[in-house]
Amino acid sequence: MRRLWLRCNLQKVIFFFFALILLCVFIFVPAEVSERPRFIVEFGINCSAIYDMEPVEVNKCLVARKKRYVGPTDKNVVNATFDCDQFVASKGYDALQGSEFEREFPLAYSLVVHKNADLVERLLRAIYMPHNVYCIHYDQKSSDDFKSAMQGLTRCLPNVFIASKLERVQYAAISRLKADLNCLSDLMESEVKWKYVINLCGQDFPLRTNAELVSDLKMLKGRNMVESKRPGGKEWRWRFHHVLKNEISDNYELPITTNEKKIPPPHNIEMFVGSAYFTLSWEFVLFAQSSLARDFLSWSEDTYSPDEHFWATLVRVPGVPGEVLRSDPDITELTSKTRLVKWKNLEKNLYPPCTGEHVRSVCVYGVGELRWLLNYGHWFANKVDPNIDPILIECLEEKLLEKQMASNKTMK
Ligand SMILES: *[C@@H]1O[C@H](CO)[C@@H](O)[C@H](O)[C@H]1NC(C)=O
Ligand SMILES: *[C@@H]1O[C@H](CO)[C@@H](O)[C@H](O)[C@H]1NC(C)=O
Ligand SMILES: *[C@@H]1O[C@H](CO)[C@@H](O)[C@H](O)[C@H]1NC(C)=O
Repeated sequence: MRRLWLRCNLQKVIFFFFALILLCVFIFVPAEVSERPRFIVEFGINCSAIYDMEPVEVNKCLVARKKRYVGPTDKNVVNATFDCDQFVASKGYDALQGSEFEREFPLAYSLVVHKNADLVERLLRAIYMPHNVYCIHYDQKSSDDFKSAMQGLTRCLPNVFIASKLERVQYAAISRLKADLNCLSDLMESEVKWKYVINLCGQDFPLRTNAELVSDLKMLKGRNMVESKRPGGKEWRWRFHHVLKNEISDNYELPITTNEKKIPPPHNIEMFVGSAYFTLSWEFVLFAQSSLARDFLSWSEDTYSPDEHFWATLVRVPGVPGEVLRSDPDITELTSKTRLVKWKNLEKNLYPPCTGEHVRSVCVYGVGELRWLLNYGHWFANKVDPNIDPILIECLEEKLLEKQMASNKTMK
C-alpha cells in the first residue's frame, strides 16, 4: 500500500518536474525569435499530403487561410538580430553547409528588396550557404526599421552585405536596373570566386536546393540563363524619350512617353526584350562592365523599363561570353528556368489557373500550386506572400529542408 502510494507520488513529482521544464522552454526560448505562427503546426497540415493533393489536407488549408496571417514586424527582425549567436543558431543557419561539389562552385545573389524583412530573411535562409555571397540592395525609400533589419542580417552573417551604393528605386525606370548593377559591381570585388549570379526580389522563393541549382548550372557550361525575345510591339519603349513624372502620387514616379524620338542604340546593338531576372556567369558580368555595355546603359537611361531589355539585348551581342546568336529562336520565360511566373492572361493556355490571388495580373501562389511549382523544373517562384497564402511558403521551406537533409546524409 505504502509502496503504491510512493510510486504514485513519485510519478506526480516527475510529471510536475517535466511540465515545469516544458513551460520554461516555451516561455523563455522562442519568445524573441520564432514568434511567427506556424500554420502547418497549428492546423496539423502535412505538406507531403498537400503535394499528393489529398482532399482532406487541402480542405484544412482552406480553413486555415481564413485566419489572418500576422507575421513578425521589421522591428521584431531588428530585435532578433541583436544577439547574432542566438539568431544564427535558432534559425538554423549554422546547420547549412554545402558538399565539396557545391563548395567548388560558389554562387552570388543580388537581392533587390524594399519591405517585409521577415520574408526577406526566410528567402535568404532558403538560399543560404556559408560559401556563397549575398548582396542586399534596399530601397532608399524603405522604412528605417526595414533598413536596420537588413543591416542586422549583414552583421550576423559574414557573407551577406549591403550594396555600397543605394538607389531610390522607381518602377519601370533605370533605377531598378541600377540597383542590380550596384550589387553586381560589388560582387565582382568579392573574395568569393563565384561562378554564377542570380538576382531575386523580396517575393521570390527557391524551388531547388543549392546542390540542385549547382548541378543545373554546371550543365550550362558558361552559358547564361535569361529571357531574350524579339521586341514584337515593344519598340516604343526605346524609340521615344521618357521622363519621370509623379502623376499618381508625390512618392511614386513613372516614366512617361514623350513625342521626342531617340537615336538608335550605340554600336549597332540589335534590341531584344525579356525580363529583369537573370542568371549570369562571372565572365558575362565582367563584359557587362565594358565600355560597350556602359554606352548601352547610358543610352537606356530614358527608355521605359530598361531592366526588361538590357540583359535580353546584351546576351545577343556578337562575341560576348555565353553569346546567344541573334538568329537563334526566342528564349521565353518558360524556356528560361530562372523564374516561374503565372500571368493572368496566359492561364489555362500555358498553365492551370492561379490558386492564390492575382496582384497586378501576376499570380501570388497558393498551396494548390505546390506540386506544379516543385515539378515544373524552374529554379525560383515569383510571387509568394504569406498574407495571401502562408502555408505554401511553409511547405516550400519544409520540402527544401527535407531535400537538404537527404543530401546531407549521403555527403562526406
Ligand atoms: C503525410 O502524408 C504522406 C503522404 O500522403 C504520408 O505518407 C505520411 O505518412 C504523412 N505523415 C504524417 C506524419 O502523417
Ligand atoms: C525589442 O527588444 C526590446 C528590449 O530588448 C523591447 O523593449 C522591445 O519591445 C522589443 N521590440 C519588439 C518590436 O520586439
Ligand atoms: C548537415 O551535417 C552537419 C554535420 O555533418 C550537421 O552539423 C548539420 O546540422 C546538418 N544539416 C542539416 C540541415 O541536417
